[in-house]
Amino acid sequence: MANQEEVFKKVISHAKEYGYIFQSSEIYDGLSAVYDYAQNGAELKKNIREYWWRAMVQLNKNIVGIDAAILMHPTTWKASGHVDAFNDPLIDNKDSKKRYRADVLVEDYTAKIETKIEKEVKKAAKRFGDSFDKAQYLTTNPRVVEYQKKIDTILKRLGKSLENEDLADVKALIEELGIVCPVSGSTNWTDVKQFNLMFGTKLGASADSAMDLYLRPETAQGIFVNFLNVQKTGRMKIPFGIAQTGKAFRNEIVARQFIFRMREFEQMEMQFFVKPGSQKEWYEAWKENRMKWHLSLGLGNENYRFHDHEKLAHYADAATDIEFRFPFGFKELEGIHSRTDFDLSAHEEHSGKKLQYFDHEENKSYVPYVVETSIGLDRMFLAIFSHALKEETLENNSTRTVLKLPAVLAPTKAAVLPLVKKDGLPEVAHEIVEDLKWDFNVVYDEKDAVGRRYRRQDAVGTPFCITVDHQTLEDQTVTLRHRDTMEQQRVAISEVKAIITKEVDMKSWLIKM
Ligand code: GAP
Repeated sequence: MANQEEVFKKVISHAKEYGYIFQSSEIYDGLSAVYDYAQNGAELKKNIREYWWRAMVQLNKNIVGIDAAILMHPTTWKASGHVDAFNDPLIDNKDSKKRYRADVLVEDYTAKIETKIEKEVKKAAKRFGDSFDKAQYLTTNPRVVEYQKKIDTILKRLGKSLENEDLADVKALIEELGIVCPVSGSTNWTDVKQFNLMFGTKLGASADSAMDLYLRPETAQGIFVNFLNVQKTGRMKIPFGIAQTGKAFRNEIVARQFIFRMREFEQMEMQFFVKPGSQKEWYEAWKENRMKWHLSLGLGNENYRFHDHEKLAHYADAATDIEFRFPFGFKELEGIHSRTDFDLSAHEEHSGKKLQYFDHEENKSYVPYVVETSIGLDRMFLAIFSHALKEETLENNSTRTVLKLPAVLAPTKAAVLPLVKKDGLPEVAHEIVEDLKWDFNVVYDEKDAVGRRYRRQDAVGTPFCITVDHQTLEDQTVTLRHRDTMEQQRVAISEVKAIITKEVDMKSWLIKM
């Protein structure tokens, strides 16, 4: 655990040091769970968004993208159920006066048991070597089976009490498990209470006429309320999808995992409208499609898993999470939900307007069913960034810190470095920058010895360094250094663009889907 914590701390400090993420309003001591994307972070985030948008909108002829407003009519949130049911169960520790999400306290407790299982598995794998069968071990080792049984029993009870809104039982569970406040170490807990996560604001100038609004807690509702507008103006035929990316706001209580859980964050969502009865098939298809999108980035198949929900929200008939192995363990990265006709029907009821599709083949109107894919852009950023950060020991026993971002997403694709600041080398380097800048983000760097400049670019995640030296003046060739392998090749200046394009072009990555 300590190791995981250290890794995570390193991720956070690297993100700051190399201009990826800053605490919001840092000069005023920051705002909790709110972050600013810095010069490199903004580029990486833009590239992830673009990678999602291309896969979703550009490559699917039956999916279109919109950009709905953050502020919506307040009845939207009554219809969607957020006013009445978008709550977290909270509990306070009377000694430390700290507030926690009751369900997260219990889940953290089970995560500790899961860590014990992982330790047992590691030990056994070492003991048995090549003959180790993990699946068999998990189901037969008495200690591991006992741990797993304990986790299942606890989570089942938690799920049931939350579903039945039995908050007294959630408190009883916390007490029975002897969960202590991480700050005071005491078990002196208040009762569990529900707390709505939406941020309120007001529209209008005078106090009497002002209208109470909410900052949207998800982007999806902007799609639902525009369903018929898009269908009619785009002459869309079912099945079809509407996608959008944008900010969402939640007054999160537990906000301590950097950009994993933020109060202001960005979602990339797609609602796929289908014929009632066909939702199961589309749900499976989208599960597969989304996993392929993730795997195309090459972060390793073993770092993803599905977690199918047993306990379903009242509007869903199936739901799963794509979980990623973050530095603090497997956690939700994306949700895929079969949401039935709940949202459109609720908006019909609250607005009094029909939100139906006329199906020419069936010759009848109906409210379509919806399969949703919903991923947090910031969480995807964290997955990529934390996975990319590596400390490597080199042959000469020195270490290098390298950010092995997928080249397609890297903020800067190449750094152009004159070997020395004289003899006309900077001029040639500037010419290369001027030529490449039309196609990629490139930087020029002449400060320090070239070895140090390579290290700086490794740490910031730049996939290529192009070094201009005296030989360049004679034969128009440069040294092209590859970040991940540190391999250096001598290539003609005229070839550089094509070599980089091959590695960073979105098409060559997305085609792997
Ligand atoms: N429209 C469905 C929906 O909003 P969700 O599971 O609440 O579903 C979807 O959120 C995704 O949004 C999550 O899988 C996660 O990636 C991201 N997300 C949710 N809350 C977040 C937060 N507080 N900070 C960062 N990302 C968040």
